[in-house]
Amino acid sequence: MEIGKERILLKSIDSTNTHALQLAEKGYPHGTVVVADSQTKGRGRHGRIWYSPEGDNIYMSIILKPPVAKGRKGLGMLSLLTIMSAVAVSEAIEKETSILVKVKWPNDIMVSDGRGFKKVGGILSEARFLGTELEFAIVGIGINVGPFENIPPEIMDSATTISVAAGKDIDSNDLLEGILRSFDNWYGFLLRGHRKEILKRWRELSLTLGQEVMAIAGERIIRGVAIDIDDYGRLELRLSSGKIKRIDSSDIVHLR
Ligand code: BTN
Repeated sequence: MEIGKERILLKSIDSTNTHALQLAEKGYPHGTVVVADSQTKGRGRHGRIWYSPEGDNIYMSIILKPPVAKGRKGLGMLSLLTIMSAVAVSEAIEKETSILVKVKWPNDIMVSDGRGFKKVGGILSEARFLGTELEFAIVGIGINVGPFENIPPEIMDSATTISVAAGKDIDSNDLLEGILRSFDNWYGFLLRGHRKEILKRWRELSLTLGQEVMAIAGERIIRGVAIDIDDYGRLELRLSSGKIKRIDSSDIVHLR
């Protein structure tokens, strides 16, 4: 297995993504994984804080150096990596725990708590480009595994943990190993050019497709029905005018 062959295990770090970026710059190889028990400056998407206390959660970042990724292919590769990561993580959680897992676009990992879906994890992909060439990517994965007390009060309504959803204690180390195996498998698939299969699996896991959503893209609010994702992982919305609008990177709210 290439992913996770080299591992850096830390008690605490500012952010495993920041650390992995520094290591990748120093020449650490493809597949290196940085894992921490806690983070003091865990980062979420859109510059948000990722609350990262100690206590059986997963905080890890994977260094990826895809072989050929020039020009448009570099950007395309990054978005595919993000989609692929959500698929790999979701499948691993399903396999290790038998919980029903869904993905909220672009890559929020959601599980059912009986009344609805709540977020258990997220993925932050970052990359360094040399011009248009993708030099390396860092895929950061954060999963709430431990007790519900680990969830900060502000997000208690919208978030949960794997152990709470499973109704029993789930070992975060076993889950981490499962995620790395699944990641290695799906990454191999991506390298062999099975883009369509990755997108197909993402569509099957999607909680967003078919839903009426509101997207907040910078200052703009767009409302429409999510009908598909394109080859670059962009969400396609059908507006009330019938027009199709592609959303690149934003937060969405499911309206129903
Ligand atoms: C999101 O906003 O949903 C993405 C959250 C990603 C959090 C993980 S935890 C491990 C890695 N290190 C970070 O600082 N962030 C990611």
